[in-house]
Amino acid sequence: MSVWNLKYKDESWDFRTADTKEYTHCFHTYPAMMIPQIARELLNQYGVEGEWLLDPYCGTGTSLVEASLFGMHSVGCDINPLVRLIATTKTTHISLNTLDSEINRINETFFELEFGTAKITDTPIPDIPNLDYWFSDEVKKHLACLLTLINKVEDKAVRNFIIVAFSETVREVSYTRTSTFKLHRIPAEKLENFQPDVFGIFRKKINRNKQGLITYLEKRKDVEASICDVNTVAGELPMPKPIGGYNLVITSPPYGDSQTTVAYGQFSRLSAEWLELPNARKIDKLAMGGSPNKEILKNSPISSAVEKIQSIDEKRAHEVNAFYIDLGQSIDSVANILSRRSTICYVVGNRRVKDVILPTDEFVAYSFGKHGFTHKETIVRNIPNKRMPKKNSPSNIVGQTSSTMNEENIVICQRTD
Ligand SMILES: C[S@@+](CC[C@H](N)C(=O)[O-])C[C@H]1O[C@@H](n2cnc3c(N)ncnc32)[C@H](O)[C@@H]1O
Repeated sequence: MSVWNLKYKDESWDFRTADTKEYTHCFHTYPAMMIPQIARELLNQYGVEGEWLLDPYCGTGTSLVEASLFGMHSVGCDINPLVRLIATTKTTHISLNTLDSEINRINETFFELEFGTAKITDTPIPDIPNLDYWFSDEVKKHLACLLTLINKVEDKAVRNFIIVAFSETVREVSYTRTSTFKLHRIPAEKLENFQPDVFGIFRKKINRNKQGLITYLEKRKDVEASICDVNTVAGELPMPKPIGGYNLVITSPPYGDSQTTVAYGQFSRLSAEWLELPNARKIDKLAMGGSPNKEILKNSPISSAVEKIQSIDEKRAHEVNAFYIDLGQSIDSVANILSRRSTICYVVGNRRVKDVILPTDEFVAYSFGKHGFTHKETIVRNIPNKRMPKKNSPSNIVGQTSSTMNEENIVICQRTD
């Protein structure tokens, strides 16, 4: 039976009114986050308590959080150090007592600063290229002061928790437009009036995240979760912890190369630079499809779409092709460490380039098919609440946009003995 016959729309997967920020899911935004309800429903259908889940492109760890609530151990991989930090923090058992005493210590300093009994000392401001372009002098001083306070926190898990709130604060108090994931500065005439309350914003995030943490710790099962610095295209996946391989994959890979689809690296850059994380400016190049590839994919479900694009724009066709070569290689590596009775659930969007639709869902089913997986079904859902750019530039010409993905596909394949 063809992939198409097993593909159907199911609006019950839209989760239109669902709270997507429960538990630690509220910690930090990120482009194209999976909504927890999808992972939760898939775990209910295919998860087995005590077994192992893999998310090869885990981002901020939505599947891993849900696995720990469900009772599955999990391993996540991502090339982006900022999201690895977020995913780790979202799945870690953090001592609420230690957290409270550190929050109190920081709040006391805020109080002294606000009431003039202390002054923001000349804490060193990190040497970040172009910093003045993105932050006012006042904001830089406040962020540097915060960082100094955070660095005094000894408990690593608590420090990471506070760093995550700091990271989201950095983006919010910068001159970046919030309407886009890319780094675009707000218009010049608005700069002067932009005077964010750095400590106030940070404090709100700490309080919000603490509430999320409390509900998470109440429900979290006693399972392992580990997050690895792994480029899944390069085939360096972590050896399976369970004997025989991972049993379940719930993941959402990138929709296309970061340069023309979702700019994960640009989104993370300012925070990553303040936190001196590695590769702060290289994530989009390291991501799938980030480097050119001369090989041409033949006889795959995307081949005819790539040929059509090629007849319009050869360069774009090569970029698109490079992404699918990477995705295919990454799937080969993932399939090699899955058990003989495993299920994969890939949430993918079929993006449009030069008005040609790329059937990524079929490509995923085809790629796993080469490793003994059978396509079970593809559920099509509307995207009412995922943070995605609703418009992109398929022509890659500034100003030329068209509506992009309003739907995504949950591709489910299974390998049985
Ligand atoms: C759609 S996002 C995942 C979002 C995640 N499900 C969440 O809820 O936050 C895709 C992720 O793939 C990562 N990525 C891109 N190329 C990768 C590669 N070659 N290996 C591992 N991760 C990669 C990106 O850094 C990004 O975080």
